[in-house]
Amino acid sequence: MSRQVPSDLLGDLRGAYISGEFSNYREWTFPFVLNRLITIYQAHGMRVQEIENDVLSSMFVSLMDRQNMGIRDSSGNRIIQLSETDTSPDILPNRYRQLADLVRFYKPSCIAETGTWNGGRAIEMALAAFQNSDSVHYIGFDLFEDATPQTDHEEFNVKPHNTKAAVQKRFEEFAEHIKEKENKTFTFELTKGNVRETLNKLDKTKIDLALIGSGNSEKTVQIEYNAFKMSLLWWLIISLPKTMRLRVFHQRNTKGLSRSLTRSR
Ligand SMILES: C[S@@+](CC[C@H](N)C(=O)[O-])C[C@H]1O[C@@H](n2cnc3c(N)ncnc32)[C@H](O)[C@@H]1O
Repeated sequence: MSRQVPSDLLGDLRGAYISGEFSNYREWTFPFVLNRLITIYQAHGMRVQEIENDVLSSMFVSLMDRQNMGIRDSSGNRIIQLSETDTSPDILPNRYRQLADLVRFYKPSCIAETGTWNGGRAIEMALAAFQNSDSVHYIGFDLFEDATPQTDHEEFNVKPHNTKAAVQKRFEEFAEHIKEKENKTFTFELTKGNVRETLNKLDKTKIDLALIGSGNSEKTVQIEYNAFKMSLLWWLIISLPKTMRLRVFHQRNTKGLSRSLTRSR
């Protein structure tokens, strides 16, 4: 105000009268006052661009949205802490539909999975395996809460992260439930870390079926393949890069994999 010459201020008052703005002063809410100011500034030459609602909402990030759970601060620390008790919701892409059939067909009682994620796939496989077995042992590998934006980028991971504690709790509850309801025994072991390092400590002789589905980088898939190829009767590769879909390979058939990897480059 102190920088405006009186004739400008009088001009604004006159403008407010002529435009009818003087009779609009009836609310004192933030948008109302903002609108009055916009009118005055427009009269002084300000250009106003209307923004559609959907554009506006995509400009803001809701920290409550599950999709944004992975947001980090500038030091790389999580802004929203992962839950120690709840896992992310299950999903069922089309390519997984054959999985339960395959489990029922091969009747495994010891199942390994790389990329345990929220534990949903493990439970799905165990339920199918219980149709032919009274006990199922599950061996899972994942980065869990150690996953970072860098590992997501390197492994083409788009799924939200889960803590090992939350998945463990889910499995304990499932084991209790299936014991009580069906008198079946579900046991499990979970290993946290990068499969590039953790798989070599695994005793593969006891595994009947492995679902390979952690990282999608060529290096990780190759390590997973090498880790399981000699000890399994059958193994599955699932959730490989977009160009591939569910494939089943026989123990010694490495041709399929090298062909797939070539196509994915
Ligand atoms: C696509 S999700 C797994 C999907 C799950 N197997 C299923 O069938 O629903 C990939 C998971 O692998 C984990 N992951 C990715 N790269 C990994 C790596 N190099 N070592 C261990 N876990 C990894 C991620 O943390 C994520 O939970």
